[in-house]
Amino acid sequence: MTSTISQDAAPGAIPAGSYYERHIFFCLNQRSNGENCCADHGAQEGFDRCKSQVKAAGLSGPGKVRVNKAGCLDRCAAGPVAVVYPEAVWYTYVDASDIDEIVESHLKNGQIVERLLIPAHMGR
Ligand code: FES
Repeated sequence: MTSTISQDAAPGAIPAGSYYERHIFFCLNQRSNGENCCADHGAQEGFDRCKSQVKAAGLSGPGKVRVNKAGCLDRCAAGPVAVVYPEAVWYTYVDASDIDEIVESHLKNGQIVERLLIPAHMGR
């Protein structure tokens, strides 16, 4: 299920002051003390898949999409997690098809993938 993102700017317009239209950050945090962390739940694979799919779709680069690594985003209980800005939409994912849907629906077409949203109350 998807919904349209409402923004004041015209569809496809780069937000004022932004070098990229959208930025997605993947938590790749690894903990060695046995505590829960995104690296133990396929975060690297999700990041790698997103990076390659964004590039293959011609979405990468200035004015388009940037895929970045991040440390702990403090929502570990929902991991693995990724967040898309400027909309500040938080996702979790399980496999490559989830990543592909985020790329196609949100990063390319501006449609939030509601089934992958992290519940608002989930934190660390
Ligand atoms: S370890 Fe990924 S959000 Fe904390």
